Amino acid sequence: MSQGTRTRPAAFTGPLLYGGDHNPEQWDAATLAEDLRLLRGAHVNTLTLNVFSWSLLQRDEDTYDFSGLDRIIEQVSAAGMSIDLATSTGAVPPWLARAHPEICRVDVQGRRHLHGVRENACLSSPIYQELAPRLAGTLAARYAGLENLVLWHVSNEYWGRCYCDLCAGSFRGWLLSRYGSLDAINEAWTADFWGHRYHDLAEINPPSEISDLQEGSGVVALPGLGLDHRRFSSDLARDAFRAEKAAIRAHDPHTPVMTNLMMPFQDYDYASWAPDLDVITWDSYPRRDDPPSHTGMHHDLMRGLKGGDPFLLLEQTPSRQDITHAAKRPGQMRAQSWQAVAHGADGVMFFQMRQSAGGGEQFHGAVIGPQGDGRVEDTRVHRAVTELGAELARIGERIRGSRVQADVALLWDWEAWWAWDGICGKNPHADYLDEARHWHAELVRRGIGVDVLSPSAALDGYSLVIAPMLFLTRDEDADGIARAVRGGTRLVLTALSGVLDREGRVRQGPAPVPFRELVGVWDEEMYNLDPADRLPLVFPADGDPAPGAAAADVDPLAAGSASGDAPRGRWTAQYLRPDADTEVLARFGTGPDAEYVPGEPAVTRHPYGAGQALYVGTLPDDAALARILERALDGLGIEQHELPGGAETTLRIAADGTRFRFYLNGTREARTVPLVAPGTELLTGERADGRAGSGEQTAAAAGTGASIDLEPYGVRIVEEDTASL
Ligand code: GLA
Ligand code: ZN
Repeated sequence: MSQGTRTRPAAFTGPLLYGGDHNPEQWDAATLAEDLRLLRGAHVNTLTLNVFSWSLLQRDEDTYDFSGLDRIIEQVSAAGMSIDLATSTGAVPPWLARAHPEICRVDVQGRRHLHGVRENACLSSPIYQELAPRLAGTLAARYAGLENLVLWHVSNEYWGRCYCDLCAGSFRGWLLSRYGSLDAINEAWTADFWGHRYHDLAEINPPSEISDLQEGSGVVALPGLGLDHRRFSSDLARDAFRAEKAAIRAHDPHTPVMTNLMMPFQDYDYASWAPDLDVITWDSYPRRDDPPSHTGMHHDLMRGLKGGDPFLLLEQTPSRQDITHAAKRPGQMRAQSWQAVAHGADGVMFFQMRQSAGGGEQFHGAVIGPQGDGRVEDTRVHRAVTELGAELARIGERIRGSRVQADVALLWDWEAWWAWDGICGKNPHADYLDEARHWHAELVRRGIGVDVLSPSAALDGYSLVIAPMLFLTRDEDADGIARAVRGGTRLVLTALSGVLDREGRVRQGPAPVPFRELVGVWDEEMYNLDPADRLPLVFPADGDPAPGAAAADVDPLAAGSASGDAPRGRWTAQYLRPDADTEVLARFGTGPDAEYVPGEPAVTRHPYGAGQALYVGTLPDDAALARILERALDGLGIEQHELPGGAETTLRIAADGTRFRFYLNGTREARTVPLVAPGTELLTGERADGRAGSGEQTAAAAGTGASIDLEPYGVRIVEEDTASL
């Protein structure tokens, strides 16, 4: 759903941001001059600077030296580049760790670390809480007036937790302010289990491997304690961000302030961070052969964090990455870059500009390699970056600020993810992230735009909301979902939703307790299944058109699945007991694979207000999911365009109504996709209307209009004709 145009920070106008992390402090001025020449030639317009320079900028508690940074900023500014200026607080200086060992983290095994690596600060330590914001404020006082400063970049990829005594103290304070009393904490955590009743707040410890985290299983003896410790750690890191942001704001009231996020990333609840971030930026490092829809879902999720506002792809490797090793295939980096823009990015940035000679990332891909002597421009990587830069420079500004249009909301919740991963007695094969990806991928395959949203988001305008495995459900979110359905939204809810309350306790009553009235069914029991179990699902009248539907309305999917396999459930079978007004859309089959629930209802549909709720009593495989989605979409009028595997289409709409339709091929094989509406293809300047002789567009299969042939990793962007609106 498009949520209208919002006012965005003034810095976000003009061309798309193109560039990335640069570390000129590792090189001399002549090298930087050469880098700037090469980067300008590649259409780079923005550099992220000063990410890991704390120890260079400050040699003791009172002595700062900005001369090196001044020189870099002058040179970069003179070259006409915009700057994303980092605060450098992501890596504590060695002198500081030596002077204040308490600034180093204690790990989950209870070991106090010495200085090392990065993201290494205990965020509860008073010295960090003093010096990090002070550095951010000092930088802001010095550089806020720079005309080419477009972003403040606080720390870098916050991650992890600390188990030191200071953090234990902060955790106890956090608990008290959340619950109000020790009794309430005992109650929330069911502390009488295994004799944990606490009589003094000081008896509560963070759940480390030497306290309540059970070795091997990763499960905390009191799941509520584990959940709250994750919440606390997320809030603590967000507070560190807030403190630096406040210090910056004292000197610079306008420039957007952010920190770069990651995905998949479980440590912190980014939904609770989003209001503090002026713009969402994230770092994308897919493995070479990951399905492109995984990255697409991460983009949709990042865009959803701020209600659909454009975000920035702040890092990706132009070629190879340290952790995943494999090099991107020829054309893949360009396709991934346009994929980000297609999903709502207003900037495409890299890690990194020049490959470090030393250090633990000395072989990480970079725009400028070590080839030297005028050879860099002749390298494949630099050429690919230059070609993409030219494309972005040519058409990026038109697209910038436009908003992605999506009809379906897919719900994603960090607390539900934490809760599922933090319990015992679950099926270890069922995976929260996999389930969300699974539904997302099938929507992509049908050419349907998806907003990935928190269950706390406003859902009312969506015709379809899908909530896979919303294991922990907060009361107010269940109410919000019910409200949307009452107003006409259709909901798909799967097994393992609404099981726990906010504190991580099993809800008492007929499951799914908070959705009971909405779904018109209750689960008597859940049966965990093994990978070998092949739980059959039977959809009555499978393959038949809905009564009264014209043949042309019948989606071929109804007659067969993506894989052609019979539909099955995975990992869990719920014994469903439907109410009288609840329709059964599918049943479990019979026989040995369905011994727990032979012939029982598997998928149900219940009218609720102006909407309806589908409930799925298992976690469907591809074939089952396709059929369920078919029924969920039935009659909603959402445009569908069936796409071959690895292809995508998305739509961005500008404030003036201009529609940019992206057609992407994320694979190394050619793909043919349906042309949704005619217009002008912006990369080639050619017409895209399916007329014979118009180049690569060819007439497609009977009755489906025209199509577009996409070469491996091909991209087309069609600005649709106004007449086609
Ligand atoms: C992260 C960091 C960068 C760099 C890259 C390497 O995204 O932010 O500093 O380490 O990973 O891929
Ligand atoms: Zn700590």
